[in-house]
Amino acid sequence: MMMKKNIHLEINGEIKDLTVDVNRTLLEVLREDLNLTGTKKGCNQGECGACTVLLDGKPVSSCSLLAVKADGKSIFTVEGLAPEGQLHPIQQTFNEKGAIQCGFCTPGMILVTKQLLDSNPSPDEQEIKEAISGNICRCTGYVQIIDAIKALSDVTKK
Ligand code: FES
Ligand code: FES
Repeated sequence: MMMKKNIHLEINGEIKDLTVDVNRTLLEVLREDLNLTGTKKGCNQGECGACTVLLDGKPVSSCSLLAVKADGKSIFTVEGLAPEGQLHPIQQTFNEKGAIQCGFCTPGMILVTKQLLDSNPSPDEQEIKEAISGNICRCTGYVQIIDAIKALSDVTKK
């Protein structure tokens, strides 16, 4: 029988006490136990960035992190950006700039964008490219995504 462990996570500002199998990933717990399906499962191998969440403010691949390793930590998922169902400015701008096509990479892209702009409100193009370098988009060719982040950076400067 799989060993279980009690953990507590702060997810989008709410404390959750959970009992999880020690071999389950944070991605599985978010999607299957907490129904936070905004976080996507792509490669499940730490390569594509679709499963990105912010762990204590830093982007991590939740498919590659055991849920028990996140015990006591703060997790921010894409659902945290729009708690009232009102789009966050990052989501709005991605939408307006055509930075969303199939949408599979979008939650991860948006969270790395949030982390970038939180730490550097006026990134240059190189810094933007570096910030999204761990996130694969099969649809947009990245141009619209970079444009959206530049537009957000301009807004922040005003
Ligand atoms: S699903 Fe986690 S990095 Fe691809
Ligand atoms: S919009 Fe389809 S993978 Fe990025």
